[in-house]
Amino acid sequence: MAALSDSLKLAHGPALANRIAKSAMSERLGTREGAVSAELVALYRRWAGSGAGLLITGNVMVDGRSLGETGNVFVQDARDLDGLRAWADAARSAGARVFMQINHPGRQAPRTVSKHIVAPSAVALKGAGPFFATPRALEHREIEEIIARFAETSRIAQQAGFDGVQVHGAHGYLVSQFLSPYTNRRNDAWGGDAARRRRFLIELLRAVRAAVSASFTVGLKLNSADFQRGGFDESESMALLEELDREALDFVEVSGGTYESAKMFEETVPARASSKLREAFFMDYVERARSRIRCPLMLTGGFRTRAGMQDALAGGAVDIVGLARPMAIEPELPKGLLSGARSEALPVRLATGNATLDGLVQGSWYQAQIDRMGHGKEPQPSLPRWRPVLGYLSARRVSPRVPA
Ligand SMILES: Cc1cc2nc3c(=O)[nH]c(=O)nc-3n(C[C@H](O)[C@H](O)[C@H](O)COP(=O)(O)O)c2cc1C
Repeated sequence: MAALSDSLKLAHGPALANRIAKSAMSERLGTREGAVSAELVALYRRWAGSGAGLLITGNVMVDGRSLGETGNVFVQDARDLDGLRAWADAARSAGARVFMQINHPGRQAPRTVSKHIVAPSAVALKGAGPFFATPRALEHREIEEIIARFAETSRIAQQAGFDGVQVHGAHGYLVSQFLSPYTNRRNDAWGGDAARRRRFLIELLRAVRAAVSASFTVGLKLNSADFQRGGFDESESMALLEELDREALDFVEVSGGTYESAKMFEETVPARASSKLREAFFMDYVERARSRIRCPLMLTGGFRTRAGMQDALAGGAVDIVGLARPMAIEPELPKGLLSGARSEALPVRLATGNATLDGLVQGSWYQAQIDRMGHGKEPQPSLPRWRPVLGYLSARRVSPRVPA
């Protein structure tokens, strides 16, 4: 029976000192060239001392032409190796391990940020209005190129001193789009039935594994389900886990939702805390998933109490507890949870009652906290929930400069 303070050995790469991981949060602190900034390094020096055994970076894009947000770091060649080294060194400076999350946004790329908006099929985001264009369907050759990009970014991450990568296969980005029958309407080698929809991810994972050494970790973030009609559902997700069990994969982090159904941004409501042991959103899924795949499972979304985290580990279905939003307002929370000095995270209620607005409010509020830490300030839990949204909407958004 695992405890929060137990170490964990992964099949490839170094052991994690304990079972708490900072889950990925897009920092948006990259330079206009998509390089690592001094603020990003400062942020990870702060998180290095958090007590978490593992820090997973916010999503790093594999193609500078396809970004999810301004301020995304992208790694498509080794030109920023020194910056990447400084980032990895800062994150590892107090003993935590650091994995780079690598991603391609596919159709979830705002038109103000990306000129190259591609996806498995030309299916537009619902209700995306003026912000998101209808993507162009990828050609076979381009799909193979993107797979090669994921492999190259991983190779560079290893060269820069990261301990591993995590392929972002969740939240409706490109990998997720390939897996979903709603966004993948192809009828070729990459779509048409569930096995062919899985092919992009399987080939991508093999290419990544082949590009790095045996001492480097390769993980995956995966949706339990998309939570939308016609999307990637639990039965396809379970079948995928069985297939992944045959691959050289070191861990799977379970999440859920997409931009169209932002399940991952729900809030653990304090009033529901009587069912504390079930505070994690995808707990039932992970329990069912446990028998399908042998590699360690990380669960993220909703964990706020030490009791809830301990119970998830004790039940045997969860090997790593992922924390995202709490790390943006209490960067030393894992230390407190591990020592027993803290029994729960600071409660935060930002929900507006409108699902679309909630995504905007949450994203900008937590990003503002991350930004403060990057600039050497303390997080500000009392920050009014609307203030960062107003700043976000009024800011003149500049398109990042992309190297040829
Ligand atoms: C500001 C912000 C940025 C995020 N960026 C990412 C990201 O880059 N990649 C990712 O996989 N998840 C991202 N997430 C989702 C979190 O990793 C996590 O799945 C979600 O917040 C639920 O976990 P929590 O309840 O512990 O916050 C982000 C969340 C927030 C609040």
